[in-house]
Amino acid sequence: MGLSVAALCPVRPATCQLNESEKPMQSSCAEIQAQLTDRVLEITINRPERKNALTMAMYAAMAELLNSAADSGEVRVVIITGAEGVFTSGNDLMDFLGGSASSEESPVFQFMLALYSFPKPVVAAINGPAVGIGTTMLLHCDMAFAGDDAMFKMPFVDLGLCPEYGSSFFMPRIMGHARASELLLLSKKFDAAEAVALGLCNAALPANEVLNQARMTAAELATKAPEAVRLTKRLLRAGTREAGAQVIQEEALHFQKRLGSEEFKEAGTAFMEKRPADFSRFE
Ligand code: COA
Repeated sequence: MGLSVAALCPVRPATCQLNESEKPMQSSCAEIQAQLTDRVLEITINRPERKNALTMAMYAAMAELLNSAADSGEVRVVIITGAEGVFTSGNDLMDFLGGSASSEESPVFQFMLALYSFPKPVVAAINGPAVGIGTTMLLHCDMAFAGDDAMFKMPFVDLGLCPEYGSSFFMPRIMGHARASELLLLSKKFDAAEAVALGLCNAALPANEVLNQARMTAAELATKAPEAVRLTKRLLRAGTREAGAQVIQEEALHFQKRLGSEEFKEAGTAFMEKRPADFSRFE
């Protein structure tokens, strides 16, 4: 089943009224941690032995947290970060090789949808690798701070796949066609300073200052008039909302097909065998 634009663009009211009877923000998955402090929900991706690669259970937990945070009067801002000096190495490649589909019901799409339509500000704090969706999710965060240890990469072509989460649409708009082509066609990695120059991140900082800066920014946002903040976020994104959703849908259809391709099989096997992929036999 495909992904629908309507699902990506729901009319989504947000709550910012405190409600005594609300349930506490809890993650359904040990590898996703949630901490609510002074109206800031901090979501930490925590699977260090796999460089914080995201499994279906982790996507599902993040989607649930974002959906609860959208409706909660106790949350005004969300921080997304990673544990132990890594943001995320992206989708778990074993899951991809196992054929996890990205249909509308899949946890990957539920996460994409929850973040794409999230009505309150999201601040990303990036240390270490931010690969695949680790980079593309920044397009849907409102501010991002990266450490001098950060490494960004969208290795879709190197994996025999194609751009996802609206990257083929939003990257050229943010940084221009030439730079976006370089990053997506060559799967070229880049650092925090480049991410700032490209307009993907707000500041490059010493690694140990990143989370603190994100927390200070989130705390500042949490003191501001909540409805004015939400309206401003919505207006900032209004011009690209529908068109971006359409591209996310189209990319997802291609991506799903590519997961069954011989080119992806070669790339995935090469990753597991710790060797470079060999695409020489393909036409
Ligand atoms: N899925 C599944 N396992 C992953 C993973 C991923 N996305 N990323 C890393 N791992 C695993 C490695 O296979 C390795 O497992 P091992 O200890 O059994 O050998 C372990 O995590 C540590 O990774 P390693 O590659 O040794 O760490 P590194 O610090 O040298 O490099 C990365 C970190 C993130 C740059 C590198 O692991 C990488 O490029 N990963 C793949 C990223 C990717 O292609 N993601 C998909 C995007 S669509």
